[in-house]
Amino acid sequence: MSEQAFSPEERAAVYRAIAERRDMRHFSGGEVAPELLARLLEAAHQAPSVGLMQPWRFIRITRPALREAIHGLVEEERTRTAEALGERSDEFMRLKVEGIRDCAELLVVALMDGREAHVFGRRTLPEMDLASLACAIQNLWLAARAEGLGMGWVSLFEPQALADLLNMPTGSKPLAVLCLGPVTEFYEAPMLVQQGWAEPRPLSELLFENQWSTP
Ligand SMILES: Cc1cc2nc3c(=O)[nH]c(=O)nc-3n(C[C@H](O)[C@H](O)[C@H](O)COP(=O)(O)O)c2cc1C
Repeated sequence: MSEQAFSPEERAAVYRAIAERRDMRHFSGGEVAPELLARLLEAAHQAPSVGLMQPWRFIRITRPALREAIHGLVEEERTRTAEALGERSDEFMRLKVEGIRDCAELLVVALMDGREAHVFGRRTLPEMDLASLACAIQNLWLAARAEGLGMGWVSLFEPQALADLLNMPTGSKPLAVLCLGPVTEFYEAPMLVQQGWAEPRPLSELLFENQWSTP
């Protein structure tokens, strides 16, 4: 064991947060105390980012009419997604894919504008900005779980329509609508598994040595 390791209890807590984090779509209303929300956003902001570009921008939605408009955008995309799914369309429409109206806090997370100026680590892989933003969201997700709050990442929306709604500058791009807040209980397994939509694959099928392997 490394001398730098956390104590056994601390390690267990880290792994517990990872294992028990769920993408939540059912919320019990309530509120998130301002100091707790600040703590969670600080956790997100401590994420790694390519070239330390910190490409994330968080927009807290507090106006009810704006929340409703975002819900409308997601509904539109939910219908289009169902159409694109063909034979699984009805099954998809029965899934709950967001908790926008019920969550205590609604956040939009976006990539900043002017990202082309950041070349370090992105010359051949420009999408590393997106990867960095995802790290921030995962930090927030895990910290929220440890605090007993649920979070859901909603990506069913037309990015330009959401950018227009939020007066975002050209070149920026919203990538997440985050529903955050108290929940009655956490799903014991991913909801898509509970609902029979998808089956997770074990790590053993996705872990290779020295070269890509096809089973
Ligand atoms: C980038 C990203 C986008 C997602 N978008 C949605 C979404 O629009 N609606 C939804 O219900 N779930 C969304 N999810 C949640 C996934 O469905 C969920 O993470 C997956 O089913 C595994 O469940 P778990 O997070 O509870 O382990 C998204 C997750 C990620 C990482």
